[in-house]
Amino acid sequence: MKKPLLVANWKMNPTKLAKAKEIAKFYDNENVVICPPFVFLNEVKETIKKASLGAQNCFWEKSSHKKGAFTGEISGEMLADIGCRFVILGHSERREIFKEDYLSIKRKIKITLSLGMTPILCIGEKGGEEKKQIETIKKQITDSLEKSLVKKIIIAYEPVFAIGTGKPCDSYLAEKRKLLIKKILEEIVKGGDKTPILYGGSVNSKNAALYIKEAGFDGLLVGGASLDKKEFKQIIESLKEL
Ligand code: PGA
Repeated sequence: MKKPLLVANWKMNPTKLAKAKEIAKFYDNENVVICPPFVFLNEVKETIKKASLGAQNCFWEKSSHKKGAFTGEISGEMLADIGCRFVILGHSERREIFKEDYLSIKRKIKITLSLGMTPILCIGEKGGEEKKQIETIKKQITDSLEKSLVKKIIIAYEPVFAIGTGKPCDSYLAEKRKLLIKKILEEIVKGGDKTPILYGGSVNSKNAALYIKEAGFDGLLVGGASLDKKEFKQIIESLKEL
């Protein structure tokens, strides 16, 4: 089995550069992707030797478009130049708080791929009625992807009710969702079911291995626990023997 990928999503943390460097150094591992806030990317890159660098977002136009008149945005070219290999896109916090829609997510996926980086597309339902949850997942996938993109990306299944709540998704339900996602991807394009799928949502050192061993995910997207050096190190350790 291929080693599980561990993506550390630091979100808007930590507040100090020194702390960012300290954490990054502590869990520098070849199967880890560290996604710090934009301002820390360069310094984190200088700190890590084995881990890969990822961003938490990316604008959909190049800097050359309209002379880069997109105040406050970061272009994919900047991310690629600094050494990012992955970009997290469509995170539920961005969909909810920043009202990111399917079209902008699709554009971001395309620009990320065109610059040689791998998009990690986050999808996940909010809870509620089963039929509605399935429809949400289907819509998130079919509206943000097209045939030519499916096999080039990584999907992160993150049920919204499990994100940052300390209430992880039951591994049986997570596996069920993983199989649904695979089916949808295979329907879009033959071989789409081979697209790697990560689990995210209240992952910690006690449940990390369950999602890989029992639910068969290809890796994990870790938020809160990735800012705790000891906890994250234990997550790495718990996956070593798999
Ligand atoms: P969490 O966040 O691990 O803190 O639940 C996961 C995420 O939002 O990517």
